Amino acid sequence: MHLPWRWLAPVGLIASSLGEVRAQLPPQGPTFNDFLRFSCSELNIQRIDPLVTPGGVPSPHLHQFVGGNALAPTMDPSVLNITEKATCTTCTFTEDLSNYWTAVLFFRHRNGSYHRVPLMENLMLEGQRGGFTVYYTAPFDKKTKVTAFKPGFRMLTGDPTYRNPSPNEGEFKSMAFRCFTTSWGPAPAQSEIGGEWDTRTFPTTPCPYGLRINNFFPTCWDGVNVDSPDHKSHVAYPSKGTFESPGGWECPDTHPVKLPQLMYETIWNTSAFSDTSMWAEDGKSQPFVLSTGDGVGYGWHGDYVFGWEGDSLQRAMDRYCGVGCPELKTQSIIEANKCSLKPVVEERVDGWLDALPGHGY
Ligand SMILES: *[C@@H]1O[C@H](CO)[C@@H](O)[C@H](O)[C@H]1NC(C)=O
Ligand SMILES: *[C@@H]1O[C@H](CO)[C@@H](O)[C@H](O)[C@H]1NC(C)=O
Ligand SMILES: *[C@@H]1O[C@H](CO)[C@@H](O)[C@H](O)[C@H]1NC(C)=O
Repeated sequence: MHLPWRWLAPVGLIASSLGEVRAQLPPQGPTFNDFLRFSCSELNIQRIDPLVTPGGVPSPHLHQFVGGNALAPTMDPSVLNITEKATCTTCTFTEDLSNYWTAVLFFRHRNGSYHRVPLMENLMLEGQRGGFTVYYTAPFDKKTKVTAFKPGFRMLTGDPTYRNPSPNEGEFKSMAFRCFTTSWGPAPAQSEIGGEWDTRTFPTTPCPYGLRINNFFPTCWDGVNVDSPDHKSHVAYPSKGTFESPGGWECPDTHPVKLPQLMYETIWNTSAFSDTSMWAEDGKSQPFVLSTGDGVGYGWHGDYVFGWEGDSLQRAMDRYCGVGCPELKTQSIIEANKCSLKPVVEERVDGWLDALPGHGY
């Protein structure tokens, strides 16, 4: 099944910075079968941050977590083996016991109260309960090999403290916001992430059909370290091209090993917050704010703790798996929705709140 670019706008992220690449792609764009694309329902929403502030209970700002139920405030791989401990996952592939998380989106009412924005199910992944969509993409040429993440691997992209664009160009381009003013649109077929319909900060007009925010993780690894003190230095964005470039992407000499393209696609149901009479008095200032307190959007970030069983992810990547992957064990979205985990930090995150949980940061 070929789908217009707008369904698959994420792959256009870098194409928009490489016009010549776009011209060489099939006119109809890649298909869903070119991506290992799956839903991961909500595991919980709470104030822990296992990578950046391990053991912090509570951590400064709220996150939404998906994946395996071995999630904990401290996830030192020498102490906690999540693939051994987890008994279920909110993701479609049951061998995927990884944890994935992002910040949470809030609406700020003109009267000063905050309300958490609910999540929306993604196209062709209907039925998921909260959470977001995860992609692992192997090279589109179906020849280039990528090395799956190793046990204990973790990384993050973005930085909750950013209030300006990331100084790392690849990281800056790794996120984009799309405001849907009709069902999944409007977006011309060639509309790409980072293109004319997208912004790198919160949109300034209402999004009655949802707001999508993406995270693209680095695709180059130093080949040695499964982590680094900043959870970033052991990986790098390509030195040239991207995973979708026809000739493939190039990794810097310092990080020569090619990784699958990990990507999160989070879609917030902003529908209930479209009435601008609830927005700030000027009726113009956009009303959304991340759980960090960031009302611009540069602080959007994503965290990853690898936890696939055995060599399952490597096999899926070697087979260039798409949505239906015979290499992997799958469960229905209904089954995945049943997995959840009681938060360690219990506090009210829903309904109208006087302040952001933890007051942001
Ligand atoms: C702000 O408005 C919401 C929605 O009408 C209401 O529930 C909430 O109590 C209000 N907050 C304050 C501080 O008045
Ligand atoms: C977790 O245990 C599995 C075997 O059950 C092993 O293959 C893997 O390397 C362990 N993970 C870590 C991070 O040590
Ligand atoms: C989004 O939220 C509105 C109510 O605010 C609801 O009517 C609608 O069904 C939701 N859409 C989806 C796709 O969840």
